[in-house]
Amino acid sequence: MKIGILSSGGDCPGINATIRGVGKAAITYGMEVIGVLDGFSGLIFNDFIQLGERQLSGILTLGGTILGTSREKPFKKKDGDLIADKPQLIKQNYEKMGIDCLVCIGGNGTQKTAAQLSEIGINVVGIPKTIDNDVWGTDITFGFDTAVNIATDAIDRLHSTANSHKRVMVIELMGHHAGWITLHAGIAGGGDVILIPEMEYNIDKVNELLLGRFHKGKPYSIVVVAEGIKTTKRTDQPAGAFIAEQIEKGTKIETRVTVPGYTLRGGSPSPFDRILATRMGTFAASLINKHEFGKMAALHNNEMIAVPLKEVGGKTRLVPHDYFLIKQAKRVGTFFGS
Ligand code: F6P
Repeated sequence: MKIGILSSGGDCPGINATIRGVGKAAITYGMEVIGVLDGFSGLIFNDFIQLGERQLSGILTLGGTILGTSREKPFKKKDGDLIADKPQLIKQNYEKMGIDCLVCIGGNGTQKTAAQLSEIGINVVGIPKTIDNDVWGTDITFGFDTAVNIATDAIDRLHSTANSHKRVMVIELMGHHAGWITLHAGIAGGGDVILIPEMEYNIDKVNELLLGRFHKGKPYSIVVVAEGIKTTKRTDQPAGAFIAEQIEKGTKIETRVTVPGYTLRGGSPSPFDRILATRMGTFAASLINKHEFGKMAALHNNEMIAVPLKEVGGKTRLVPHDYFLIKQAKRVGTFFGS
């Protein structure tokens, strides 16, 4: 059999570890492995590379993706598109290349495209990937643990400078529409206030809490904000800057904002993510070996399972309101804004 591996959507640490896991395992099954470049664009424009032992070696700890990525959505018509029917062109190239199965490493959008390709007769296996940890059907995605580590380190560093200046420090974290990174890094980093998209907040109550801390003699406060929270901000104002502005205006306490941004997606994967990526990749190869297509590799209660792609596509896994971590954080005094 011949498999084609692609990475699509926002990059994150662990993609190369996953490519290595799929590729090395596939070779042990006697399969030929090729890499599709720049996500689904590579299938449209016939951009492929051979992936042998040499290309798959030394990439376990490498950030980014050796295959490149894109946000190409072949089933989504765009104005000015020169290619009339991208899905059909993909199917032609898939057949011309003699590929027996596509491995699609990506987030929600990628898994939705994979499900659609499956419906037009292309064999696919999906592997969930994103720092946001918001892919439906799996307990966790690789990239998330590394992002939480990076974000927690940033928060840890804010405590000393906030203390020196007696300031409120706001940090805005990625996560798209989900608050998983903010929730975990906020707790791990000892955030006093955590604001996530899934929970309504009242800025006056946030300011009341911060003033209360100040009057009790707490020298500083840390406020951890998810980029996707609902605000009344001007369209061009990032969430963190909006919250910092509202805090300084409402409390008169000197407030500053930090945005680690893309550093959360940079560099080498954490050991946890290297192991998870290896588990996901080798499991995906085993599904292909059994001709189990149209599925996504997923972690459920620390076991690898295969989830039908049609159940995953287009859904987002958000933090439940009654999530156990929220309850436990409240027990140590963390404020969630309401
Ligand atoms: O999905 C990962 C992510 O980093 C989100 O957290 C963030 O909102 C988005 O990608 C940024 O998209 P782009 O890389 O296209 O700027």
